Amino acid sequence: MRSGAAFSMSPLTKHAMARLILATLAFSLVGCSGEQSALEPAGREATRIARLFWWMAGGTVIVWLIMLWLGWSAVKGRISENTERQARHYIIGGGAIFPTVVLAALLIYGLGMLPALVARAPEGSLTIAVTGEQWWWRMSYHLPDGETVELANEIRLPVGEPVQFVLDSSDVIHSFWIPSLGGKMDMIPGRVTHLALLPERTGVFRGICAEYCGGSHALMAFDVVVMEKDDFARWLEQQRQPASATSAGGEVFLANGCGACHAIRGTPAKGLIGPDLTHVGSRRSIGAGTLKNEPGAFRKWLEQTDQVKPQVLMPHFGMLPADEMDLLVTYLESLK
Ligand code: CUA
Repeated sequence: MRSGAAFSMSPLTKHAMARLILATLAFSLVGCSGEQSALEPAGREATRIARLFWWMAGGTVIVWLIMLWLGWSAVKGRISENTERQARHYIIGGGAIFPTVVLAALLIYGLGMLPALVARAPEGSLTIAVTGEQWWWRMSYHLPDGETVELANEIRLPVGEPVQFVLDSSDVIHSFWIPSLGGKMDMIPGRVTHLALLPERTGVFRGICAEYCGGSHALMAFDVVVMEKDDFARWLEQQRQPASATSAGGEVFLANGCGACHAIRGTPAKGLIGPDLTHVGSRRSIGAGTLKNEPGAFRKWLEQTDQVKPQVLMPHFGMLPADEMDLLVTYLESLK
């Protein structure tokens, strides 16, 4: 029989181990909150998923505790070498029956959740079509009166109201995911997928592409703003409007061919290849969540496009004379 003393630790080692475990736990918990956390849910679907996670984590802890207890008993010699029958009970009970019961219970709980997670939003709900592009998001709000409002890389939602997302892709497979609001859904070329969400608290969250889709996959994000209903209605009304009157910067925009790829409603720019820029100045970020929309960001984007977002389709415009660049930047910033 082996003595348990062979496994004893000095008080100093125990202390160091305890500190290491605490530090690891604290470090990993830091990642559990924030604008992109599935464990700090802000929507009905995300709450269900977070609950499933905690039940599964609980089940895992129970299984591990049993295993550790069995291992500890063996080391300490509590399982006598002579009682084979007892050992068999431990193996069958702890190694087969118990994990099967725990995992089956978790499976049944998880499967029971599935219908609610794939259900469609009620008829007449706000519907937003989102198309995944390398590497940005084309968004189109379908309003009850039949009108559509195009925008890109930002979603705003009214709190407490269901929303139906209609998803597809124009190139490769992407995956639409707002961790704070719900689960992810693949965006597949040539196929339409659906995802219904119900935001339950206001705030700013982050959506991401959850499927590797090429060079700048990690730079394919979007902002999600959940607002009070009145604020949302005002925002949507403002997004419906064409761009404010054009300026000298608007002339620079058109003269350099930007309108071949980008649309700015109310101007001759009607391009469909890149993001709609009608109200780009009002967005929280540019380059699909890559740069915060703050002074200097448009200039950086225009001058170093391929450095900010490697392999991006848009060419950089660093060759523009300084005065034209200033006008262009001012114009884009003014598109509120
Ligand atoms: Cu789109 Cu990854």
